[in-house]
Amino acid sequence: TTPAGSTERLLAFGAVAKTLADTVTVPAGYTATVVLATGDRLFSDVSAYTDDGLNTRYDRRSGDCHDGMEYFGLSAAGAPDANSSDRCLLGMNHEYITPLFLHANGPTAGANRVASEVDIEVDAHGVAITEFKKTNGKFALVLDSAFNRRITGLTEIEIAGPARGNAKLVTKFSADGTKTRGTLNNCGTGKTPWGTLLTGEENWSGYFKRTAGDAANRATVLGADANVALNRYGRGEGASRYNWETAGADDKYARWDMTLNTAVAADGSQDYRFEINGQGYMTEIDPYSATSVIKKRTALGRFAHESAAFSNPVVGKPLAVYMGDDSRGEYVYKFVSTATWSAADANPANRVATGDKYLDSGKLYVAKFNSDGSGDWVELSLNNPTVAGYTTYVFDDEGDVAIHSRLAADAVGATKMDRPEWCGTHPTTGEVYFTMTNNSNRRVSPTGSQIGVDAANPRGYTDIKGVSTTQSGNVNGHIVRIKETGGEPGALTFTWDVYLFGAESAASPTLINLSSLTDDQDFSSPDGLVFSKATGICWIQTDDGAYTDVTNCMMLAGVPGTVGDGSNVTLNYGATSVTTKVGKKPTESTLKRFLVGPSQCEITGLAETPDGKVMFINVQHPGEDTSDVTNRAGYTSHWPGNAGYGAGGNVARPRSATVMITKDDGGRIGS
Ligand code: FEO
Ligand code: CA
Ligand code: CA
Ligand code: CA
Repeated sequence: TTPAGSTERLLAFGAVAKTLADTVTVPAGYTATVVLATGDRLFSDVSAYTDDGLNTRYDRRSGDCHDGMEYFGLSAAGAPDANSSDRCLLGMNHEYITPLFLHANGPTAGANRVASEVDIEVDAHGVAITEFKKTNGKFALVLDSAFNRRITGLTEIEIAGPARGNAKLVTKFSADGTKTRGTLNNCGTGKTPWGTLLTGEENWSGYFKRTAGDAANRATVLGADANVALNRYGRGEGASRYNWETAGADDKYARWDMTLNTAVAADGSQDYRFEINGQGYMTEIDPYSATSVIKKRTALGRFAHESAAFSNPVVGKPLAVYMGDDSRGEYVYKFVSTATWSAADANPANRVATGDKYLDSGKLYVAKFNSDGSGDWVELSLNNPTVAGYTTYVFDDEGDVAIHSRLAADAVGATKMDRPEWCGTHPTTGEVYFTMTNNSNRRVSPTGSQIGVDAANPRGYTDIKGVSTTQSGNVNGHIVRIKETGGEPGALTFTWDVYLFGAESAASPTLINLSSLTDDQDFSSPDGLVFSKATGICWIQTDDGAYTDVTNCMMLAGVPGTVGDGSNVTLNYGATSVTTKVGKKPTESTLKRFLVGPSQCEITGLAETPDGKVMFINVQHPGEDTSDVTNRAGYTSHWPGNAGYGAGGNVARPRSATVMITKDDGGRIGS
């Protein structure tokens, strides 16, 4: 994908060495510039960010913990223009918060949370739409742009698709089950072919409180299945993550307590027993209108969503949307639209209506990875007798299947994967890549809730460094890729292999470093994965706990081949063995480390200009280890203050931030 007549060579840059430095390191000839950090104002009606934890009104500022991000071009006149590399909107997730840094001295102690602090925390979640404009090759935020928008944990959102109006979405806020408030723990993203943002709601389950005794009351009022459902999504009885429900009697705080009130009606219209069912979806936002209606697309299922990768659109064919559920032993999913793609929808007059057309009607499938390198997509609906006849949990209707996708996938025996994080579609081959970040539950000899190794998740019998036979799971993660049969988005079968295994370069070549990674390529726990539409480079980002004794998290550039270009590899575990398909091993010209982030961060999110010359990535939660922090001297990162961004300098509070990457000679990123 090098431009005709160009002498450009991809991956010509010098590999960045692994480092623990509290800075962003990029190759020689590249420049990294911070453009938007936690707390930066989007509107001039709030004061500029200060490094003292006294900033308020996060509904007018950048949220915390930047994550997935997409680029939406704007013409000089301010109209949607997919080809513009000069002016854009960035749609960005703010996954969660580090409360210590959001307040002057961390959250105020006490049995009840302080309401003003909770307001900041709820508002620092969600999504930001921000306008950026290029001057002399560099983008900067447009303060007060009419496009700037914050969507928070309290923004009103419509329920769309099969679960709209379902009895299990009825709350005191929405007696007809058609709306909810907020989008929570927004992790990966997707960009629709019609120019809207999809934001994945990931670890939302812990935001809601269930008082002791709730399980018994639910069983009495709603039946035993009510607890089966909540337990499957990790919400047993217990406290909420941030105790937001303790901040006051106001409904906006009370909603975080989902305990069933036995004194009120048997439906959910007078309490928040079903409030949790309003989270866990792919939520669609039209970035080009700051007042557009936001919709939760329930047809795409409910789980710990990461990114959403579309099949490359073909006129007259349905669209496929690929998705992962990031939890240990969870599944890979695909939604196939009923509507077939129309070229006119690439720039429609009404983006919300176009979302209705493609994302509210279709079929949801879950993946089975077979040991011979083939795979099956299994339909999750009441049309499938295995789902309709499931007895562990009995589905009321199609809306119930959409709300409880994990249970439907259990019913059909889908393949339990090593924490599916992002997925991405190769721009020319159409093959789809899924990161499996790691899985501490994977074992050669599983006991209890542990999961045995299989062909698609073959590692589970080694320690972190790969030098002993301690059973500690798949600590370094891998990347699985699939090829749909016939290249059809609606195919019911596929073939697969493992593109790369994360590993330390010195680790065992027969059990761990199966991709023969060198010092310039080795990585652990792949998470973000985005293909550049300009260069075709596969950008791989890490979120690691296993290799952080040696290096901070990183981003690598890959130029992959195709499914099946490698060979079979057998992992011998003594008494047992497992054979898997491994893609062609990388060389120094097909995989190279491009960036290393500051201390304790995760590198995530990637947006680029259509010309490939400007890239934005996110640094999430630098200095996240706050266990020993009692004062400023204890902060484990001071980035980006120490890079001269904002106040605080070398003693600044750490902040998540968006980084713009440019090449000093004006070339494309990754060349
Ligand atoms: Fe928010 Fe699975 O990463
Ligand atoms: Ca992630
Ligand atoms: Ca992760
Ligand atoms: Ca993270």
